[in-house]
Amino acid sequence: MNRIATFVLMLIAVAAGPLLDARAQGVDVIPQPQQVEIHGDGFVVTADTLIIAEGAGREVGEYLAGVLGPATGYELPVRAHTGDPVIGGLILLELDAQDEGLGDEGYSLEVTDRGIDIRAKTPAGLFYACQTLRQLLPIEIDSDQVVEGVLWEVRGVMIEDVPRFGWRGMHLDVGRHFFDKAFVKHYIDLMARYKLNTFHWHLTEDQGWRVEIKKYPLLTEVGAWRTDGDGERYGGYYTQEDIREVVVYAKSRFVTVVPEIEMPGHSVAALAAYPGLSCTGGPFDVSTTWGVHKDVYCAGNEQTFEFLQDVLAEVMPLFPGAYLHIGGDEVPKDRWEACEKCQGRIKAEGLKDEHELQSYFIRRIDAFLTQNGKKLIGWDEILEGGLAPGAAVMSWRGEKGGIAAAQMGRDVVMAPYSHLYFDFQQSDEADELGATWGGYPIPLELVYSYEPVPAELSDEEAAHILGAQGNVWTEPIATPAQVRYMILPRMLGLSEVVWSQKEGRDWEDFERRVVGEYGRFGLMGLSYRDHRE
Ligand code: ACM
Ligand code: ZN
Repeated sequence: MNRIATFVLMLIAVAAGPLLDARAQGVDVIPQPQQVEIHGDGFVVTADTLIIAEGAGREVGEYLAGVLGPATGYELPVRAHTGDPVIGGLILLELDAQDEGLGDEGYSLEVTDRGIDIRAKTPAGLFYACQTLRQLLPIEIDSDQVVEGVLWEVRGVMIEDVPRFGWRGMHLDVGRHFFDKAFVKHYIDLMARYKLNTFHWHLTEDQGWRVEIKKYPLLTEVGAWRTDGDGERYGGYYTQEDIREVVVYAKSRFVTVVPEIEMPGHSVAALAAYPGLSCTGGPFDVSTTWGVHKDVYCAGNEQTFEFLQDVLAEVMPLFPGAYLHIGGDEVPKDRWEACEKCQGRIKAEGLKDEHELQSYFIRRIDAFLTQNGKKLIGWDEILEGGLAPGAAVMSWRGEKGGIAAAQMGRDVVMAPYSHLYFDFQQSDEADELGATWGGYPIPLELVYSYEPVPAELSDEEAAHILGAQGNVWTEPIATPAQVRYMILPRMLGLSEVVWSQKEGRDWEDFERRVVGEYGRFGLMGLSYRDHRE
């Protein structure tokens, strides 16, 4: 577009005021980018368009070609820059390691009639720009089959975007119901589409142990299987090879996987395999009932710590991320109160009570993880009886635990069940695909209203809020379709809470954009909950 035309457009923009605001012009991106300016003509992706990406950006270029391929039918080449003129315009993915302004995950994306110019300091930033680009294209781009007759046009726009928080998480409980690695990858893909970057994989539960541990084969031979009420054997687990495959896949989507190995509670499946690690000696069956179970690891038995350290020694190298989640929630003290070994430990260590025994337990594990270069994170119960020195806190029973931890100068992830438990129903009316507990509803609007930084924190304390995540406990959620229904669209609300700036949040505008995403879900054949129903 020439200068005069641009000038005329600017005049119209001034005259029309908010009507020409980026939001009213169909730049419908979730999560809302930090800065959007509409300008000039757009760009049409054709079979002659080239993707220019090199070095560390090459893989993202290939990824983008893969995103654009199925619906357009184009096999766009991914090349290094030659400077030669091209017929179909360029999608340029450029890494600029010096660009501090964009941070480690930010990007800029400029669309003109000549092409699309994407810049970032890191491949992660390039990747997020590609997610934005995907949403700027007609929704048919999300079809997995060629769609004829669509002009693959992206409007002229300049976007600059950086995330608000570094921990943008989704959790999945694979203990209550098992989800295979193909689904886990799909879940990670859905997360990445909305710029979420931390997958909390809840791998062990009373109802199933889901990760192969070579030194303790009974964990999966026994602990991964249960006999449900209908007499059916139910279960499954991931081999270490499966885990590695998922972690590599996640990395290619710039998602860090945080494994959770629960202790000292929620461990009946492990105790069914190794009853000697309990206070009573068992025997136990892998649990077939939900809820909080009284049998937990014995904190007085040295073998418990040897076992857990051996398990962690196999788990740590599978997950390159900094954090390892050790659970720590919902630990009834009944068995410890009645156990000679546990009471002996309380005396020998000069502990006041069973809460301090829990704290002792977590401190030992924290020391072990720290020695091995990992950071411990646990549910907010790990504050009770004293927080271990290296521990970060995941606040689920509201925000109190998170606030206390931040005030102690500890890192915090907010996941309060008041707003971010996606196993809770979405309204009083919906049938929820049979996938919910009932009770307290968490509609999309409530998720969207969540503010991860509590008002009572000082700026310095607030800096310890790493971010927030949505939790998906799967007692009532048995199938992939049900999981999708529970997270779509609530995960999109979360993405805007953790990525976008607080100041720009606008429910009505978000609602308009989320309805646009429903069209994409439909094209992809994904179950979702239309929040208007
Ligand atoms: C939890 O929901 N028990 C962390
Ligand atoms: Zn005991």
